[in-house]
Amino acid sequence: MPKITFIDLDGQQHVTDVAIGLSVMEGAIANGVPGILAICGGSCACSTCHAYVDDAWAGVVGAPNEIEDATLELANDRKPLSRLTCQIVVTPELDGLVIHVAKND
Ligand code: FES
Repeated sequence: MPKITFIDLDGQQHVTDVAIGLSVMEGAIANGVPGILAICGGSCACSTCHAYVDDAWAGVVGAPNEIEDATLELANDRKPLSRLTCQIVVTPELDGLVIHVAKND
């Protein structure tokens, strides 16, 4: 299973194993990563799964599509590498991915 490291708002690292085909958000919830709320359950409607893709992974993860981009407008402190983690599907290529949790409330 791909390893995904989440860095929470306190700087704590959470190294997780997330099955291929799940979303990064589902991986965070299953592993109790603090700060990923996912209130809408992954339907790209709430923005509370907001996080920042680590610089080194920007080219692999890619940019949000039009719908995600619109929902990201609801997020706190949007930055160039902002993504909604419910919209990132885990693939073998994402093994080692680093995600920085955003302030979701
Ligand atoms: S869980 Fe609501 S937008 Fe991702």
